[in-house]
Amino acid sequence: MNEILIAQFFHVLAVVIWIGGIFMLDLMLAPLLARFITAQDQRVHLLYGLLRRFFAWVWLAGATLVVTGYGMVFLYGGFGALSLAMWIMVVLGTCMVLLALHVFFAPFRQMGRAIKREDWKAAAGAAAKVRFLSGINLFLAFPTILAGVWGIFGRS
Ligand code: HEM
Repeated sequence: MNEILIAQFFHVLAVVIWIGGIFMLDLMLAPLLARFITAQDQRVHLLYGLLRRFFAWVWLAGATLVVTGYGMVFLYGGFGALSLAMWIMVVLGTCMVLLALHVFFAPFRQMGRAIKREDWKAAAGAAAKVRFLSGINLFLAFPTILAGVWGIFGRS
C-alpha cells in the first residue's frame, strides 16, 4: 500500500537523523570536546550550541516518528491489528520520544539557565545528564529498530 510505503520512508529518515545524531554527538563529539577543550566555559558553550541545533532536528524527527508511527498503526487497522513486533515498536518508540521530551525540558533547559548565570559547573552537570539520558535512548534504539525490522521482514 502506497501510504504505508511513504510513512515507512519518512519514519526511517527520521530515525536516521535522530539516532545518527545522538550516535555522533554522544560517542564521538562529546568525548573529543572534553579532551581538547579544557576551558569549561568554552566547552559548555560549544556543546550547548551543538545541542540547540541538534534539538531543532530532534523536534522535527520526533514529530515525524509520532505522526508516521501512529499513522501506520491506523493504516494497519488500529491497535487490535498489531503484531507483537509492532506492539514492541509502538511501546519502545513512544518511550524514546517521551524520554527525548524530558531531556529537552529538564536537563537541556537547566543547562541553558546555568549558562546564563555563568555557572559552568552546573551547566557541565546538566550536559552530563543530557548525554546520559541520550545514551539510554541510543541503547533503546537497538531493540526498537530490531522490532521495526522484525515487524516488516518477520511477516511470512
Ligand atoms: C512514536 C512512536 C513510534 C511508533 C508509534 C512507531 C510505530 C511503528 C510502526 C507501526 C511501524 C511499522 C511496522 C511494519 O510496517 O511492520 C514502525 C516501523 C519502524 N520503526 Fe517505529 N514507531 C515509533 C518510533 C520509532 C523510533 C523511536 C524508532 C527508532 C529508534 C523507530 C524505528 C522503526 C523502524 C526502523 C521501523 C521499520 C521501518 C519502517 O517501517 O519505517 N520507530 N514503527
